This record gives sequence, structure tokens and C-alpha cells, in this order.
Amino acid sequence: MAGDVVELRDVWKVYRVGKRSYPALRGLSLTVEEGEFVAIVGPSGSGKSTLLNLIGALDRPSRGSVLINGVDISRLSDNQMAELRNRVIGFVFQSFNLISHLTALENVMVPMIPAGIPRSERKKRARRLLERFLPPEIADKKPLELSGGEQQRVAIARALANDPRIILADEPTGNLDSRSAERVIEVFRELHGEGRTIIMVTHNLEITRYCDRIVRIQDGRIAGHDVRGGWRAG
Ligand SMILES: Nc1ncnc2c1ncn2[C@@H]1O[C@H](COP(=O)(O)OP(=O)(O)OP(=O)(O)O)[C@@H](O)[C@H]1O
Ligand SMILES: [Mg+2]
Repeated sequence: MAGDVVELRDVWKVYRVGKRSYPALRGLSLTVEEGEFVAIVGPSGSGKSTLLNLIGALDRPSRGSVLINGVDISRLSDNQMAELRNRVIGFVFQSFNLISHLTALENVMVPMIPAGIPRSERKKRARRLLERFLPPEIADKKPLELSGGEQQRVAIARALANDPRIILADEPTGNLDSRSAERVIEVFRELHGEGRTIIMVTHNLEITRYCDRIVRIQDGRIAGHDVRGGWRAG
């Protein structure tokens, strides 16, 4: 079923620190369709992570609206936002963000707890997810016993724990050498092939080659879109 899954309408995000305010997004509008693989690029400080955090329901806009599957997230309660983050959206970070005292398997099981899945089922599902991307023997290792590329693939398995339709990733290959990055890129291409929507902040040229669209951000606004070889301003 095609349709818009993510829509931002004239979104502003102003951070306040003491008496100063920092407008990170200034009237940004963007629509992403179901199944689209979108890369977000732009200079440091242009608002890319801020944008991703709003789409991921980690934060609320100061003004404007963010719609996920047609639902305005700023109207949701904190609990409903948490539920959206848990079930609809998978988040992958540059620094992996795995829980260091838990094994790879346990890390993948964590998001299944609030989803109410029984422990034995959690274990089975987590093992299946891990084995999609990694050799079985890593399941009992802790994050520090894994390479960066392996940690990121565990983090991707965790993001998939509740089978989300939307995957958000903030520079997922930023801390990886090119070989590990390649394997992670393959995983994202697979997820795209399954029809999931992917929105990724990245400067990795290898990734942007596979995207349906590149969205350029500058000073908290959209500076343009690159659609498979073409360029569209604004
Ligand atoms: N919590 C915060 N409090 C105050 N200002 C913030 C906060 N988070 C971000 N900013 C400011 O908002 C602007 C956008 O930040 P953001 O992290 O979205 O940029 P970015 O495009 O992701 O940059 P980078 O490529 O370096 O990750 C920056 O000027 C930053 O200083
Ligand atoms: Mg950032």
C-alpha cells in the first residue's frame, strides 16, 4: 500500500539554553512515501539530527506538525509517543547505543519487553533477527567483545525487534571502516527491499547511490532534493 508515511509541515524547532534561543529547524516541510529510501545530507549544525529526532518521536516540534501514518505526533501523550517509538519506528545511531552489560541477544530482546512479548518468544525472535546479519556465535558476546561493524548490525537487529515499518538512522556508518560499512549498507538495502521506509542521515557516497532521493538541508530548511540523477530546488 503506497502513501505518505512521514509528513512534516512547516516545522520549527527552537532550542532554548538560558536566555538564548537556537532555531535548529526553520519552517521545514518534507514528505516521505511508504517504501522510500531517503538520504538526508547537509553541513554540520544544519539540523539533520534534530529532524530525525522529531520524525522518531524522540522530541516535539516548537511549531508546525509532524505526521506519522497520518497521526500528528505533537497531539500524542508521552505514553503514546513511547508506544510509537517502540512499535512503528526503529532507530539506528552512529554510536550504536547498545547496553554494555547485556549480551547481543539480550540487547535485541530489550524492545520486546514493553511490547509484551513473553520471554521465550523474545529469545527466539531475537536469535532469528541476529542470525540474519551475524554468525550465531556472537549472540552471547557483550558489545565490547564485538567489532564496530558487528555492534552496528546488532543495533540494527534491535531496531527491527518489533518489526517497524520505518527505520531512521543517524550516520550509521560514521564510526565504521569501509569494509564494515559495506556490510551495514547491504543490510539497509535488504530492509529497503522488504518495503520498509528508510530515512538516513549520511555522507557515505556508497549509500547515497542506492537511495531513491537525497534531501539537502541547510540552516534548518530544505535546500533541495536529488531524485535519481535529477536536481529539484526547494
Ligand atoms: N539540545 C540542544 N540545545 C541547544 N542547541 C541545540 C541542541 N541540539 C542541537 N542544537 C543546535 O541546533 C543546531 C542543529 O543541530 P543538529 O544536531 O540537528 O545538527 P546536525 O545537522 O545533526 O549536525 P552534525 O552533522 O554535526 O551532526 C545546531 O546549531 C546545534 O548547536
Ligand atoms: Mg547530527
